[in-house]
Amino acid sequence: MKLYMNDILSAFSYALDCVEHDATGIASHHTKRVAYICLVLGENLGLNRLQLNDLAACAILHDNALTQYLHEEKVSRIDMLNDKNKASAGKHCVLGENNIMRLPFNYDVSDSILFHHENSDGSGPFGKTHLETPLYSQLIHIADVIDIIFDLSVMTKAKYEKILKYLNGKRNTIVHEDIVDLFERSFDYETLQRVQSLSITSSLNEKLPIIHREYSLEQIGDMVEVIANVIDYKSEFTMRHSMGIAQKAVTMANYYDYDKETTMKLYFAAAVHDIGKLVIDRDVLEKPDKLTESEHIYMQNHAYYTYEILKNIRGLDDIISWASLHHEKLNGKGYPFGKTAEELGFNERLMACLDIYQALTETRPYKEGFEHDKAIWIMKDMVKNNYIDGSIVDDIEKVFANIELS
Ligand SMILES: [Fe+2]
Ligand SMILES: [Fe+2]
Ligand SMILES: [Fe+2]
Ligand SMILES: [Fe+2]
Repeated sequence: MKLYMNDILSAFSYALDCVEHDATGIASHHTKRVAYICLVLGENLGLNRLQLNDLAACAILHDNALTQYLHEEKVSRIDMLNDKNKASAGKHCVLGENNIMRLPFNYDVSDSILFHHENSDGSGPFGKTHLETPLYSQLIHIADVIDIIFDLSVMTKAKYEKILKYLNGKRNTIVHEDIVDLFERSFDYETLQRVQSLSITSSLNEKLPIIHREYSLEQIGDMVEVIANVIDYKSEFTMRHSMGIAQKAVTMANYYDYDKETTMKLYFAAAVHDIGKLVIDRDVLEKPDKLTESEHIYMQNHAYYTYEILKNIRGLDDIISWASLHHEKLNGKGYPFGKTAEELGFNERLMACLDIYQALTETRPYKEGFEHDKAIWIMKDMVKNNYIDGSIVDDIEKVFANIELS
């Protein structure tokens, strides 16, 4: 499948920014600012466009395992921010590095995410000096540090001066002097102003090298899995929801005898169908009680955000509508667009059914998942109300009757 990698990276950066903001309280668009700064530094180093693409991907994905780390280590967001324990700080680096290992980079980027918190003098989580730390890690580190300390979402001349003073004070301790010099060469006040909130999205999109090339279905599968993990780890409540649907989508695609490419597209759509949930506050996502009316409307927005995040990825029109229309109903009373039966194709209907089936059968912290028969019984009631497609529910009933649910 031919894809614009820059479109994908731009969508991922939006999603990961929401996670980082939610998990750490850093001003929105941190990921984009880090990526933009890295690209400017990389350009000044004379990297070619394929290298710049790799650098941007590493920068955008540098904290891809943040939510996974919070979940696996059972640490609260507050504890993580106050955590002075280096070994534990390095855990999101290890998880993040493992997650991206199979992605289709142009060159070898090993250890770039693993060592993104290393200091030049070896005082970082893994004790590596600048000599043992890949260049991309060092570029991500300087961008990460100054954004966390100075919040570049708002830039002033005074702040710019302070940043330069800070970096010069940290020469060869936090950041190696070559990287400080590179930063000074690359950023005058005006260039750094381009990272401010209002301009960062367009600044990054202009800088991302346009890479339009063929990716194998396996490579696309790997990319999609990384982002599905980020979505699923956002909330304990929906852990494995995206991947659960993605696997079931493949099972259904096999049942319908879809060709390989359509099967992969369905897998892709299923894995990212709830990407819009990354925008929704965790407090609402995880509220065990009934949502208030305004919370309910806010929560429903996630389907629109899925559309918003994916809509600029060129060439993925099918995937975008299969993913973002999963809460539409045949009677026209669904969301976000209130589409009617005539406007909902087979795969959109299939995605809606799989989403409901997965939600009913999966175990969440406050409820055990229903058995297959009970889930189908509830879904048949929905068919009677003209919410979902009865023939697809019949197929799901048959296909998953004897399959162990995940
Ligand atoms: Fe990090
Ligand atoms: Fe970061
Ligand atoms: Fe959803
Ligand atoms: Fe869902």
